[in-house]
Amino acid sequence: MTADIQTNPTTDFVSWFRSVAPYIHAFRGKVFVIGFSGEMITDAKFVNFIHDINLLASLGVRLVLIHGARPQIQLRLDESQLETQTVMGMRVTDPAALQCVKESVGRVHHEIAALLSMGLPNSPMANASIRVTSGNFVTACPQGVIQGVDLMHTGKVRKINAQAIHSRLEQGDVVLISPLGYSPTGEIFNLTMENVATEAAIALNAEKLIFLLDMLGDTAASEIDNPATLPRELTVAESKLLLENKTPTTKPLVPDAIRPSLQYATKACEMGVARTHLISRHNDGAILQELFTHHGIGTMISRETLQALRKARIEDVGGILQLIEPLEAEGILVRRGRELLEIEIDRFTVLEHDGIILGCAALYPFPEEHACELACLAIHPDYRDFGHGNRLLKHIENQTISQGIHTLFALTTHATHWFIEHGFTEATPAELPKVKQNLYNYQRRSKVLIKHL
Ligand SMILES: CC(C)(COP(=O)(O)OP(=O)(O)OC[C@H]1O[C@@H](n2cnc3c(N)ncnc32)[C@H](O)[C@@H]1OP(=O)(O)O)[C@@H](O)C(=O)NCCC(=O)NCCS
Repeated sequence: MTADIQTNPTTDFVSWFRSVAPYIHAFRGKVFVIGFSGEMITDAKFVNFIHDINLLASLGVRLVLIHGARPQIQLRLDESQLETQTVMGMRVTDPAALQCVKESVGRVHHEIAALLSMGLPNSPMANASIRVTSGNFVTACPQGVIQGVDLMHTGKVRKINAQAIHSRLEQGDVVLISPLGYSPTGEIFNLTMENVATEAAIALNAEKLIFLLDMLGDTAASEIDNPATLPRELTVAESKLLLENKTPTTKPLVPDAIRPSLQYATKACEMGVARTHLISRHNDGAILQELFTHHGIGTMISRETLQALRKARIEDVGGILQLIEPLEAEGILVRRGRELLEIEIDRFTVLEHDGIILGCAALYPFPEEHACELACLAIHPDYRDFGHGNRLLKHIENQTISQGIHTLFALTTHATHWFIEHGFTEATPAELPKVKQNLYNYQRRSKVLIKHL
């Protein structure tokens, strides 16, 4: 959806800017929790991620960052020649290992804080400064004894001090949290980034939880970008079916590298987080692409389906205009001003996707002549050929029938064949209702199409 600004600089820039404006408006003041792995910090692209974080913060998004430190901990353990046991994928953290964990996590934490604090000279966000804050926001408890093994200082989140985090966010700070937690008895626990990020997002009632995932190198990274492996969008119910491998397919749908994050993401949504996103960290600007484009580049999980076919409301006028104005300019649709659209908004049905209007259609009844007109049928160019036009038509047909009317007509200059393929037949202007005949524009010479329902 974001235009390639280089191909046609002026028009593409304007349409790109307009396309991101609704997101900027929608995200201001909202809490986003972003979890990223320790691998990401060692990547040369990490500084670009910091720019993106800076940009989001300057747009008024309230950011809580949770970092991992797995590779750094492993390196420190190797240096100390310490071997740790693993139970069900969890590392046993004995007192010696805990020392390595504290050192590694501390170092990583300070490195990120330093990067977030730098003035970003020669960057798109030069002179923008963000204040980073940390604290003992995470209370943890031990994982306990699993399969007869005491996991010692390996813990899980018990409570997040949401109030303290909110108060920092309100002051405009970016909150940076480590995968370490403290118990009321003064012990330190080694936690997973995913666990902390999920619990933080739930406790903060965040708008979004975003995981920048590190898979097993670029091959696996491309897996998550492949909609055949993991769909672009999932409801909680669909995600659960995928995790249980209950979808009708022979191949395993969820790669092991993604499974834990998908489980956490699904849990977060179930517990009230509006949307969770899984994105590959290997794509430069991944977070911006996911957040500011219709398509996104990762996988988004939400409680309910994001697509709705519904009656238009007055707040939709802007979105409908954005959709139909380019078609009006091309002469494909008859021009309607904002004022007329506002007056006739009740006649419109819209197809909405995650707050964006992707399609619209209007129904004008002519009761005396037992006919209805389908007008202003439009689908956003990026979303054509997915059956949306057909869905809108079916909806309009049902509305027509529910009014006791069985004749539907449409006037079109560019979509005659589409209508014919959907059961309409070509007619003459003389077959239109009288009022409509008087309004027929002989210069425009639209084709008249009629369907008997
Ligand atoms: C006409 C329109 C609403 C169809 O929307 P859509 O969501 O792409 O439609 P569907 O997905 O249900 O149907 C897609 C099929 O219709 C075909 N199709 C799309 N637009 C067509 C057109 N103008 N003429 C002929 N066929 C067309 C596609 O090739 C596709 O065919 P396929 O299934 O064989 O691949 C959309 O193209 C549009 O917004 N056009 C501009 C506005 C317009 O002309 N409106 C009608 C006047 S009110």
